[in-house]
Amino acid sequence: MKRVVVVGTQWGDEGKGKITDYLAQKADIVVRYQGGNNAGHTVVIDGKKYSLHLLPSGILNPKIDNVMANGMVINPKAFIAETEKLSNFKLHVSDRAHIVLPYHLELDKAYEQNKGDEKIGTTHKGIGPTYTDKSARLGIRVSTFIHPERFKSRLKELILFKNQELTHYGKEPIDFDQVYHEFSSYADVMRPYVKDTSYFLNQAIEASKKILFEGAQGVLLCLDHGTYPYVTSSSPTASSVPLNTGIAPWLIDGAIGVTKAYTTRVGSGPMPSEIHGDLAVHIRTVGNEFGTTTGRPRRIGWLDTVVLKHTKRVSGLSYLAVTLLDVLTGIPELKIAVSYNFNGEVIDRIPADIEDFMACTPNYITMPGWTEDITQVKSYDELPFNTKKYLEKLCALVGVPLGIFSVGPDRNQTIMVQSFFED
Ligand code: IMP
Repeated sequence: MKRVVVVGTQWGDEGKGKITDYLAQKADIVVRYQGGNNAGHTVVIDGKKYSLHLLPSGILNPKIDNVMANGMVINPKAFIAETEKLSNFKLHVSDRAHIVLPYHLELDKAYEQNKGDEKIGTTHKGIGPTYTDKSARLGIRVSTFIHPERFKSRLKELILFKNQELTHYGKEPIDFDQVYHEFSSYADVMRPYVKDTSYFLNQAIEASKKILFEGAQGVLLCLDHGTYPYVTSSSPTASSVPLNTGIAPWLIDGAIGVTKAYTTRVGSGPMPSEIHGDLAVHIRTVGNEFGTTTGRPRRIGWLDTVVLKHTKRVSGLSYLAVTLLDVLTGIPELKIAVSYNFNGEVIDRIPADIEDFMACTPNYITMPGWTEDITQVKSYDELPFNTKKYLEKLCALVGVPLGIFSVGPDRNQTIMVQSFFED
């Protein structure tokens, strides 16, 4: 496969950054195709930890071209903060991506406060309001943002309108002059990176370049196929890549579904296989399950293959990359959710309505755990018998072969089982 999508199969935080960074060593180009700095991708290289929110995970490799595609929403302030920490990188920003502005962040908080107990638990990064403005034809594209006069007049017009909304929610109005001056300086920094990235990618495809498309969040947070309304405002599925990057659908060769060996979720919304108590605390501590973007403790659950099968259907998965396998070491018995009880029926799909999904209770199978330290394992054969059985069962239940597994945070703790991204 030459053009591969890295997809989060659960509710985000599956370790996509780590898998993308690992595969990026064999790639020519890494493309982020949706979301913004709501994402948190942690990459550890030789013990040094890098937290990326907005930039593609190939940015740490100086030989790779990195693309922020048209499907993204870019907060210029966050863009500057992340790029100024790095040197020696190749970056291309789509002229059709949309810009996150200060009023989007304020409105994100206002909508959440207004929802009270029904709040989504967003990252407060202004993602939803920016995509809303894009759909309502009230957004600002990068191409306008880097054009001083056009940005000025568009921003003036929009701030007038947005301030009415902000004051309606009891928020302070935004000062045009301040935002314009601050953001114009960000535009000056961004300008040299901006181009028609669809054109760039299509040329790269003609030149037979190897491309990784990096999803942010997970498919269960997809606006269309996720657990609506507890979702983000874009689509992390492999099927959204062509639209969000400007390439033809048939140019995608396959997708790697990144899945934790268990389940986590941040923010509100149902999670049928959620576990509470000491075991959840143990997994959260060992797996360092705290949000990279917000620092929030993540909710913990058993692996849920109904979720993974849903992702396989709506996104398409060629191989699984199972991460954080080492976190399960020492747990005597491991449960896997294989179906749900719903309205007196046993189902293996996710109901569309959130109240129906909340009513689902999982049916589990139980697998024996393992006690051996697996963090130094270098091949599938070196894994303990019970770890192999757990992986075999999970792949058989989902119906997708194992491509990669990972046994620790470092790049060199990633083991490739299939060579699907070779020359
Ligand atoms: P938003 O993307 O900030 O609008 O948040 C919507 C939902 O997506 C919330 O439940 C967030 O916690 C969740 N979310 C957004 N980005 C991520 C991520 O990178 N990992 C996990 N959850 C995320």
